[in-house]
Amino acid sequence: MIKKGLVLSLILSVFFAVTATIALASGYNNPLQYNNDALYPQGPHGGYTTSTNKCKDCHAVHLATGTYLLTRADSANQVCDFCHSETSGLATKRVSLNTNGHGVDTNTPDPIVAPDDTTPTPYTIPKANWGCVDCHSVHNSQTVKLADEPSTKLLKADPNPGKAYFYYNPSLIDTTTRQSPQKLAAWCSACHNANFGYHKTPKQYYNGTETINVYGHDVAEDSATLDTTTGYALNVNPDNGNQGPNCKQCHQADGGSTFPHESTAPDLLMSTVNSTKSNLDAVCISCHNTASLP
Ligand code: HEC
Ligand code: HEC
Ligand code: HEC
Ligand code: HEC
Ligand code: HEC
Ligand code: HEC
Repeated sequence: MIKKGLVLSLILSVFFAVTATIALASGYNNPLQYNNDALYPQGPHGGYTTSTNKCKDCHAVHLATGTYLLTRADSANQVCDFCHSETSGLATKRVSLNTNGHGVDTNTPDPIVAPDDTTPTPYTIPKANWGCVDCHSVHNSQTVKLADEPSTKLLKADPNPGKAYFYYNPSLIDTTTRQSPQKLAAWCSACHNANFGYHKTPKQYYNGTETINVYGHDVAEDSATLDTTTGYALNVNPDNGNQGPNCKQCHQADGGSTFPHESTAPDLLMSTVNSTKSNLDAVCISCHNTASLP
């Protein structure tokens, strides 16, 4: 009995010595100590007070293992992976970017320009820097809580700084609550300014040679009402003002946390109708009943 107890306490003390060394050597906190916190569901992102201990979930003051701002990573592109990588992340909410979503296509020239942004100064960024932190504010600071989102989702209040937005308006954000009366489709338009609004409203677009006026499919903040049985849009009269679908109704991606990060269909389009670049009609006829087209 005594022997067994001794062995056990020996094992235990070795175990504690080892774990203590690991904890010391890493210089970080347990990265998930604030996971699923009922009081603050955004985990280590923000909510910093004199009684919390969150900074060290991500930054090691002296013994950081990466070169990027005392985190575990060497670049902005990798810094979220430790917790949010779809394959190896520790957090519950896991995402990844792919070429059909907001990941960079191998053919995309450097620097990348957000497709369908208006002139002057369409959103431009070096390919190597494009990633999570361009849409998300990791400390939940200077974020916006959009009217159709349950939380800020760490979305940046001003994702395309310096831009004269066509529709999105950060000055509508209540500075105390961070609440905006605007919805996600308006926020998306911050970098894709030509893609929002009524089909008769012109937007300035540089087509590679000259700046021209372009018009787009009606796109609104609220979703268009669809027939629950057929899936067709209930009111497709073009001239009743801007009552078109919102971005997500056409760019459905694959549901869940994947929107707007990744998709199996090109351009983040509806994989539910098996759309590809050569059968985009599949997207259109999911809402427009061909029998009732004029
Ligand atoms: C969830 C992980 C995480 C936590 C927790 C966190 N940070 Fe950060 N921090 C980052 C990342 C990622 C960046 C780089 C952000 C970027 O490039 O937009 C960063 C950048 C910074 C910077 C550089 C800012 C600049 O101007 O470039 C400072 C300073 C900083 N953090 C301090 C803190 C402090 C202080 C805390 C605690 C109150 C904290 N961080 C908590 C991940 C975190
Ligand atoms: C901070 C600027 C920014 C914001 C905000 C933004 N995008 Fe993008 N978007 C880009 C850039 C840059 C690209 C091109 C690079 C890429 O595909 O990742 C892009 C590409 C796209 C593409 C084409 C993808 C492809 O592979 O062809 C779609 C569709 C798209 N965005 C939709 C959206 C939607 C929907 C939202 C809102 C949820 C949104 N974007 C918000 C910058 C932005
Ligand atoms: C183009 C802008 C954009 C980029 C780039 C982007 N996100 Fe997001 N992310 C969003 C939007 C918008 C939402 C909210 C989507 C919704 O509510 O449907 C979101 C939601 C999330 C969520 C919450 C998911 C949930 O289930 O609540 C996580 C986690 C997340 N993003 C992490 C990341 C990480 C990690 C990266 C980089 C690998 C990244 N995001 C890149 C725009 C972006
Ligand atoms: C040390 C771990 C850690 C790192 C690193 C980290 N996160 Fe998180 N993040 C969490 C946890 C924990 C949550 C709470 C939800 C969960 O468990 O998935 C969370 C939640 C989120 C959410 C959801 C916020 C909401 O309002 O619902 C977003 C978006 C997000 N993280 C984006 C990022 C981005 C972008 C980065 C990189 C810049 C990043 N995170 C780095 C641990 C981390
Ligand atoms: C009515 C359906 C519909 C709605 C609503 C819609 N889109 Fe699209 N979007 C498409 C289709 C279809 C394509 C592919 C167009 C093509 O290949 O010519 C596309 C392509 C794109 C592209 C890629 C363009 C390129 O050159 O690669 C971006 C970016 C984009 N949409 C952003 C948005 C944003 C942001 C919203 C909301 C503000 C939105 N879309 C709303 C149907 C829609
Ligand atoms: C998610 C449903 C949905 C999808 C998908 C969709 N539409 Fe529409 N479409 C609508 C609605 C709703 C209207 C009526 C808008 C209004 O009332 O203001 C409309 C209107 C139109 C109009 C009239 C001009 C306008 O913008 O009002 C044209 C033309 C059109 N759609 C073509 C297309 C084509 C082409 C596609 C495929 C690329 C497509 N639609 C995909 C819902 C959709």
